[in-house]
Amino acid sequence: MSGDFLALAQPGVQQLSPYVPGKPVDELARELDIDPATIVKLASNENPLGASPKALAAIRDELAELTRYPDGNGFALKSLLAERCGVEIQQVTLGNGSNDILELVARAYLAPGLNAVFSEHAFAVYPIVTQAVGAQAKVVAASNWGHDLAAMLKAIDEQTRVVFIANPNNPTGTWFGAEELDEFLQDVPAHVLVVLDEAYIEYAEGGDLPDGLDFLAAYPNLLVSRTFSKAYGLAALRVGYGLSTSVVADVLNRVRQPFNVNSLALAAACAALQDVDYLAESRRLNEAGMQQLEAGFRELGLSWIPSKGNFIAVDLGREAAPVFQGLLREGVIVRPVANYGMPNHLRITIGLPVENTRFLEALAKVLARG
Ligand SMILES: Cc1ncc(COP(=O)(O)O)c(C=O)c1O
Repeated sequence: MSGDFLALAQPGVQQLSPYVPGKPVDELARELDIDPATIVKLASNENPLGASPKALAAIRDELAELTRYPDGNGFALKSLLAERCGVEIQQVTLGNGSNDILELVARAYLAPGLNAVFSEHAFAVYPIVTQAVGAQAKVVAASNWGHDLAAMLKAIDEQTRVVFIANPNNPTGTWFGAEELDEFLQDVPAHVLVVLDEAYIEYAEGGDLPDGLDFLAAYPNLLVSRTFSKAYGLAALRVGYGLSTSVVADVLNRVRQPFNVNSLALAAACAALQDVDYLAESRRLNEAGMQQLEAGFRELGLSWIPSKGNFIAVDLGREAAPVFQGLLREGVIVRPVANYGMPNHLRITIGLPVENTRFLEALAKVLARG
């Protein structure tokens, strides 16, 4: 008799659903039997600009070394990040995407009997990394789609080791200000590591969003995670980083796979970090695209959740799943967010102006069908 290997999985894992990524372009092209080039994908908060030419050149230079393991300590990238972020190199942890940083935190600090606190409508990877190590996920009701930091504080107990907060949050795009963050950090007990997930921070710089780095010196229980997947346009390469005290970084380093960031990713990230023009263009494009989508929604009489990310959640005022399917038939892939407790919303990644137009036209057409 064979074992029931679902029932044998640890209970937290049995209760998980796998992460659902945006629908791949090639998959839809096969289903509709159309040219992939005609499909618009605004589903995974990717950068529509294409990678930085400097990053591409760095990758080409690195290709000759593919037989070698990468620098397991990522010295060059960590040095650049330390300088850029005003921290010591020992405070930097590199990850295979910032998801890897979230997972390292869970593996190092969570276990059965312990818990992590995070918000309703927060990033889907928080429950995955928490339950994967047998810890309890304590989900706190959101307020106006955003994090209710006061309620999250109340949810913290003796067994809490980690709080995940995203600023801005995905998929809602909501954010909190510097004062709120400071008050929260002051009140979080010292035994709780606060993971401030700033995957989209580069899009919000200069606005009323706090820069997590400004709080690192005052709060030794703070870890800021960031990524090269969004504004730096390197999602395929999987590279992100965490900034924390050197003690926390040392702990994370103990559970890290020896070569978790590959050499092409390291080289490209170094180049992208120094390509200030690319970053500026990413931001400019995002701002213009956000305005374009907001204007389009206004025209269609739809409301949306104001967003500081490179995406926006639009409220269709009815079940969004059929509209999502209708858009697919028009060759436009966006993201349904019912699995985030938002059955009436769709999340749209800001694209190039032509892509945004294609989406808005397709949306108008699908909605007109009723
Ligand atoms: C809030 C948030 N955090 C982290 C990530 C992870 O990104 P990556 O692993 O590509 O760095 C994402 C990606 O969508 C995100 O939305």
